[in-house]
Amino acid sequence: MKPEIIHSQNFVSDAVALIVKEAQAALAARGTFSLSLSGGNTPKPVYAAMAQSGLDWERVVITFGDERCVPPDDAQSNYRMACEALLDQVPIPAANVLRMKGELDPAEAARAYEGELRGRAGGGVFRHDLVLLGMGDDGHTASLFPGTPALTERERLVVENYVPKVAMWRLTMTYPLLDAARHVCFLVNSKGKDAVLAEVFSGTSDYPSAKVAPTDGRLTWLLGA
Ligand code: 6PG
Repeated sequence: MKPEIIHSQNFVSDAVALIVKEAQAALAARGTFSLSLSGGNTPKPVYAAMAQSGLDWERVVITFGDERCVPPDDAQSNYRMACEALLDQVPIPAANVLRMKGELDPAEAARAYEGELRGRAGGGVFRHDLVLLGMGDDGHTASLFPGTPALTERERLVVENYVPKVAMWRLTMTYPLLDAARHVCFLVNSKGKDAVLAEVFSGTSDYPSAKVAPTDGRLTWLLGA
């Protein structure tokens, strides 16, 4: 399916509207809404605005597209960022927030996370209702960085991935898991990323972000100024 590319002048409100619309559809159809959060800086104001969206948080399940291999209270933790911006502000049951355990041995944490997701999918591939992703200025997404082993993983759903560029271990969802989603939405502030975005949209790019391709789902790029 061709990606939908939206150039937004109201990035935060457009992102929240997209998420809420997907949530309402999922809750109506299946009684639950599974949402994977991306890390980095771009989504922070979106998460903060989502705290006011009035979603039925009892029926929302939160996962993380990737995590830095640090403790949950570390300033680099994507989990900590999500808690500060959103999860500590809404009545979501703790059991509904599936944290990647960055404090554990990376391989152990990856296996445990995959087991948790497969346990919720009858042993198969967990199908998110919506996966939010960001894109770095090198074209990475989640912790699928150029030239790293995680890019070629086609069986495992979650892997440990050493990233030389940032000299740290990361945990990341792999393409098989990302592509299983009903909807994948990149949230990207275009500033400084126009050239990378143009190549990603060219259809011939090797950037990791360009390789996300939902098997039976929608792909949206919401681009802020
Ligand atoms: C992370 C993110 C990563 C992020 C991009 C964009 O753990 O860093 O998951 O993939 O989405 O690096 O980050 P910005 O939004 O800060 O540009």
